[in-house]
Amino acid sequence: MLTPIIEKPRVLALANQKGGVGKTTTAINLATALAAVGMRTLILDMDPQGNASTGLGIGRHARSTSIYEVLLGEADLVDAAVPSGIPNLDIVPSTIDLSGAELELVEMERRAHRLRDAIDRQVGPTKKPLDYAYILVDCPPSLNLLSLNAMVAADAVLVPLQCEFFALEGLSLLLKTIERVRHTLNPGLDIQGVVLTMFDRRNNLCDQVARDVRAHLGAKVYQTVIPRNVRISEAPSHGKPALIYDYRCPGSEAYMRLAGELLRQERARTTEQAA
Ligand SMILES: Nc1ncnc2c1ncn2[C@@H]1O[C@H](COP(=O)(O)OP(=O)(O)OP(=O)(O)O)[C@@H](O)[C@H]1O
Ligand SMILES: [Mg+2]
Repeated sequence: MLTPIIEKPRVLALANQKGGVGKTTTAINLATALAAVGMRTLILDMDPQGNASTGLGIGRHARSTSIYEVLLGEADLVDAAVPSGIPNLDIVPSTIDLSGAELELVEMERRAHRLRDAIDRQVGPTKKPLDYAYILVDCPPSLNLLSLNAMVAADAVLVPLQCEFFALEGLSLLLKTIERVRHTLNPGLDIQGVVLTMFDRRNNLCDQVARDVRAHLGAKVYQTVIPRNVRISEAPSHGKPALIYDYRCPGSEAYMRLAGELLRQERARTTEQAA
């Protein structure tokens, strides 16, 4: 009997230890844009705040199996995934239980590999394959064991960066952490890219920081910049991605362009690998 070939989804961790820089907003809207062009996408809410789950309108009743049970090995990833209501987009929600997970994980075997193991268990000719092209992991604002699990499970890290004072200091700490993870726990870990968020053209500091980041990281910084846009900040309270709440606002248009850039980047990468 022929074994079906099941490709592994591309796993991207949205990480930045700084709070409120647009990790969750980027996870939700990038995932929605990918789903809109037919890429089946799964969001993993790895933040005890549960903002990605709330932002997608996932109510309490739909969170009975969450990422917490997955990390503890009590549930399979596919069983914990719930539909977001948007075609091609599912989410494994989080609950406040996750805030205690760190302490519980410390005691466990393969404590930094729990998420990776959960993904690997689904890949291959299993009865319930992980049928997604992309998995986007929304990390909490800290370099804790939850973020570490995300980086160990990920193929690459996508960094949302707000153009503000100290952004570069924060970024260099994050880059050092990624480097450390690559040398120890996940040699395949790449940097997918840095996306500048909440950009305000009228702010000179914003412009200066953007130029500095581009000077340091060059092509790793996406051409697409996400503008500060009030429609983006309104969307989560309606339990919808900005792309659904108002798909024509400048923020939604920027996230569509970001998805286009990511897909071109992915095409170039897979062509290079095949050559
Ligand atoms: N482009 C934008 N324009 C306006 N508001 C934005 C934009 N992006 C994000 N926001 C708002 O800024 C706040 C922080 O964004 P978000 O929750 O995505 O950041 P985060 O990095 O996930 O935060 P945390 O570190 O707490 O998880 C939210 O209220 C969000 O709605
Ligand atoms: Mg968040």
